[in-house]
Amino acid sequence: MIVRDDGQMMLDKIEEAKQKPGFSLPAYFFNSAVVYQSDLDKIIYKSWLYACHVSEIPEKGDFVTVKIDNSSVIITRDKEGGINALMNSCRHRGSVVCTEEKGNAKSFICPYHAWVYNTQGKLVGAREMPKDFDKSKYDLKKAKLHIIEGMVYINCDPDAADFTECEEIIKPFLKPYDLPNAKVAKQISYVMDTDWKLVMENYFECYHCAPSHQVFSKSHSLQERDDKTTPLNDEMRKRTVEELGMTKEFVQSVYKYHDDSPAKGCDVYHCRYSLYDYKTGSEDGEPLAPLMGDFKGYDCGAGDMQLGTLTYMLNYPDHCILFRFLPLAHGKSECKLVWFVKGDAVEGKDYDVDRLIYIWDHTTKEDKEIIMKNSNGVNSKFYEPGPYNPDFEDLNISFVNWYLKTLEE
Ligand code: FES
Ligand SMILES: [Fe+2]
Repeated sequence: MIVRDDGQMMLDKIEEAKQKPGFSLPAYFFNSAVVYQSDLDKIIYKSWLYACHVSEIPEKGDFVTVKIDNSSVIITRDKEGGINALMNSCRHRGSVVCTEEKGNAKSFICPYHAWVYNTQGKLVGAREMPKDFDKSKYDLKKAKLHIIEGMVYINCDPDAADFTECEEIIKPFLKPYDLPNAKVAKQISYVMDTDWKLVMENYFECYHCAPSHQVFSKSHSLQERDDKTTPLNDEMRKRTVEELGMTKEFVQSVYKYHDDSPAKGCDVYHCRYSLYDYKTGSEDGEPLAPLMGDFKGYDCGAGDMQLGTLTYMLNYPDHCILFRFLPLAHGKSECKLVWFVKGDAVEGKDYDVDRLIYIWDHTTKEDKEIIMKNSNGVNSKFYEPGPYNPDFEDLNISFVNWYLKTLEE
């Protein structure tokens, strides 16, 4: 527990952490309420965040909500077929106007005094208000919105940088999966009672994969040193181009995150890495679903990518998985996994959900356990920041450097 905390304390701790580059963050950064508020203001509410896939709101009036800390955003399909991102807080006295996680509604009637908003967020009814009350001034606030390959992204910052540059970088790598016409086969939220940074930091590295993920490590080559996997990756990329007919551009790597990000909240990267003798991310190496988009076969590869500061994807020829990290409260975080398959694939016939989700559901449950053990140890009186492995935890080093700078701004 932190007994004294303020902005100056945070700046002092940042200075202290900067004295030890290449070391993990001091516990203060995971436990301080001041830090958590700064995380929200400087990173979370300024980042482009995955909200949902267009296929989740196909009909007029369909909606889903996204929870970010104490806030919620409603993604709606309006009566003109457009998509909107509305802040779920009434313009009268602030009540949430939408209490369901998803559904279909002609309008949102505030449960408190019954002001009515349409699916575009326009205030269309404010009962018993004075005659001269100007409804047009009290529409629901909106988040910025950008749809990238069928994935609805939002940014809560009205001055957010455009997401277009990120989209242009990632599109050549995403396009062959035909995600605009894909469907969500399953989504699961893994909730952990710890700071969001510990959850993300675990995703950044595969140093823990060999000891912690035996199922994953049998099929994915990520736990090995780069020099060991180079021949495997070169062979795979050759197959991707020669046997699958993909472009050379499709197998290239691009890294533009943290200090190299095109703009704040727009971090992006892509690399295609090889699986061992596995066609896809399945338990037995055999296909899980019909090939997606332009794929004509299996190259034993997987496209690893980042789309915005808190969202990643791992895409196999027959399915794609999205990983979105978000804080739900101070000391409570969510890692949400979304499994996509070809749009016309039929559950039970073309794919089996249990087989489809097996590796990453299993791996994420293992991650949840090690993250909580890490969190418990970090909260020990005797925790002291330790050195990252420069070969395996380079992304963590880059994150911490960027994070301290961002917090200091
Ligand atoms: S708070 Fe929504 S109508 Fe009063
Ligand atoms: Fe892991």
